[in-house]
Amino acid sequence: MRDGAVQVGILGLGVVGGGLYQILRDNAEQIRRVAGASVEVAAACDLDTERLRELSVPEALQTTEASQVISNPDIDIIVEAIGGISPALNFVTAAIEAGKSVVTPNKEMIAKDGGEILALAEQHGVDVQFEGSVGGVIPILRSLKESLASARIDQIIGIVNGTTNYILTEMSEAGAEFAEVLADAQREGYAEADPTADIEGIDATNKLAILAALGFGQRVPVEEIYCEGISGVTAADIDYANRMGYVIKLLAIGKRAGDELELRVHPALLPADHPLATVRGVYNAIFVSGPECGEIMLYGQGAGALPTGTAVAGDVIDCARNIVHASRGRAPCTCEGEAVLRPMAEVETSAYVRMQVADRPGVLGQIATVLGREQVSIESVIQESAHDDVAEIVWVMHRGPEKHLQAAMSAIEDLAVVREISSMIRVVE
Ligand code: HSE
Repeated sequence: MRDGAVQVGILGLGVVGGGLYQILRDNAEQIRRVAGASVEVAAACDLDTERLRELSVPEALQTTEASQVISNPDIDIIVEAIGGISPALNFVTAAIEAGKSVVTPNKEMIAKDGGEILALAEQHGVDVQFEGSVGGVIPILRSLKESLASARIDQIIGIVNGTTNYILTEMSEAGAEFAEVLADAQREGYAEADPTADIEGIDATNKLAILAALGFGQRVPVEEIYCEGISGVTAADIDYANRMGYVIKLLAIGKRAGDELELRVHPALLPADHPLATVRGVYNAIFVSGPECGEIMLYGQGAGALPTGTAVAGDVIDCARNIVHASRGRAPCTCEGEAVLRPMAEVETSAYVRMQVADRPGVLGQIATVLGREQVSIESVIQESAHDDVAEIVWVMHRGPEKHLQAAMSAIEDLAVVREISSMIRVVE
């Protein structure tokens, strides 16, 4: 602290770091009152100095040297808002070793290295907070770690990626195809120039790893989480789903399964009356349930400068309070060990399958025979259209082991009468 004020160094003044800077500046009086001391930005560091100028950061606070910010003895809290693993992890490690508390919205780093970072923080008696890493402004991590600390959480289901939720909402409401909506979203600035991490489910997988660690109290090997994105979802699938009473969402699903955890990210048909089905556009929501707490859903903006900046500012205030009250390090890692993930083949799922087949007698029977042989039970089947000797058939399968479904799909694909399996999307009840 300097002159009775907690000093903050911000590394990375992009969307979230910039939002945080504005909030700390514009809401300084409220923050002083709730934190118990003024919270001042002592340094704002970005290699792109144009960003610093655009935010009207006073020249005396501007720097491009992260190491100078980290080694500044006046600074109490380092906010790492650079993103990615390198150099962010090195900066965070150095900050903790220098005795500073750390706040970060960096989901990739926390998902992969959170356990080691929290262990190091405990060793050095400092705080590490990362509320902004999941769900933007939604206060889900603090809810899991503090408000629900006594509850056994059995299930977490989230819409945690705004880009994909925006694309699926637009596809559903405008009847447009994926590529068309993605191109529009990129033009409007809702999707990144390189949208791979979002549309392929990687971003949601990192967020699920963090949610599961806090909700289930176990460290999660993020690379083992089953991950499937939305690039294979078509307007036809969304139309069939809507007509059957479902919406299609990219879901991050976490469940206890005995001593194991079932963690997966994939598009899914969700009943239209499920609370998550109403989450449209770039919004995020996380649904949590357990025997004591019942069902809870938190909803809000999952990205953006001021929403995510608010979550990060909340963490800064929490760290500042602990500095003011000399109680740093009071919220260490709450995990009890490493999670064992149930392999996807062993998970029980139901599925929607759309396929193109030859339009002639006995075809449905041949496919049904394979399904029966592989122990996959049919819930419903519809054939809507047939043209040029090709019929489109849509099946919904009853819940059963994923390995049976996969075996059936590969045997069906090999049937001479099957032209293609166009889509296979799981159904969540
Ligand atoms: N890229 C993320 C999304 C936002 O589309 O939701 C930041 O986590």
